[in-house]
Amino acid sequence: MKRVLVTGAGGQVGAAVVERLSGTCEVLAHDRSTLDLADSARIAAVIDAAKPHVVVNAGAYTAVDRAETDADAARAVNAVAPGAIGAAAKRVGAVVIHFSTDYVFDGTKDSPYVETDPVRPLGTYGATKLEGEQALAASGADHVILRTSWVYGPRGKNFLLTMLNAAKTRDELRVVDDQHGAPTSALQLARAVDALLARDDASLRAAKGVYHCSAAGEVTWWGFARAIFERQAALHPGSKVPRVIAIPSAEYPTPVRRPENSRLSNAKLVQAFGIALEPWDVALDEVLRKLASA
Ligand SMILES: NC(=O)c1ccc[n+]([C@@H]2O[C@H](COP(=O)([O-])OP(=O)(O)OC[C@H]3O[C@@H](n4cnc5c(N)ncnc54)[C@H](OP(=O)(O)O)[C@@H]3O)[C@@H](O)[C@H]2O)c1
Repeated sequence: MKRVLVTGAGGQVGAAVVERLSGTCEVLAHDRSTLDLADSARIAAVIDAAKPHVVVNAGAYTAVDRAETDADAARAVNAVAPGAIGAAAKRVGAVVIHFSTDYVFDGTKDSPYVETDPVRPLGTYGATKLEGEQALAASGADHVILRTSWVYGPRGKNFLLTMLNAAKTRDELRVVDDQHGAPTSALQLARAVDALLARDDASLRAAKGVYHCSAAGEVTWWGFARAIFERQAALHPGSKVPRVIAIPSAEYPTPVRRPENSRLSNAKLVQAFGIALEPWDVALDEVLRKLASA
């Protein structure tokens, strides 16, 4: 049985990975209370002692706007920690599976991004995540970096739960309709990790590199919001469906500009591993059903 150490286990993706792997792997789940990713010495000590076969780094500083005024904290977790994880993993012979983001790109491309496209983050979060990718690669550890987009799930802070909460009190919502991407559920990402772990060790190590890993298809935030309410109403007849007004990003200013194009081509992931994530709307149904049964 593989021993898998998961960081950020209290987050959306970390919790889903722990849930998915428990039963098939020996899972060592660490949240902030047992492994502070801002503490490189602690990272080294925990990984040296556990000697895992795989480290899944799902921890990150994900507050995109706050990162602008809290850059040191964002950099410690997003940029420095992946390097420290890589150094320790190399020492104990572990493979690192690390998550990154479409925010390494500026969103100006007019088709889905491939892994070799030039990077140009629009803010501190994206910049520190990019530094983290580079630090992990430079550590010399065998690693798979999964860049994903628009993550949501049945728990945590995400667009789906924000929309469902807003619908309780509001009849009308204004949502941006000029950013394009693929909402990707934490459950889909956990299955992708599981599929990677099912590979034999040598082929996983040989496939070292960056991969785009997002749900199939594309939509805007407005389209996603509409789908959330339509599908929720289908699951719970009679539930309130607020009117969703499409607005341009200019009418919803944020401290950090979001990429207009967050679409990621998953062709490399499919070719290397045969892993293809389901369409975003199929995955949305799965999460809504999970919420309903909770
Ligand atoms: N969310 C998205 O839309 C999105 C999009 C693309 C890529 N990603 C990437 O996907 C991965 C998973 O993100 P997610 O959506 O699961 O984010 P999340 O729900 O915010 O989870 C991140 C976890 O990291 C933890 N963390 C933050 N600072 C820490 C520290 N110093 N020590 C230990 N743990 C710390 C957080 O703990 P606290 O709750 O205690 O802060 C949280 O549990 C990340 O690499 C992220 O960059 C996310």
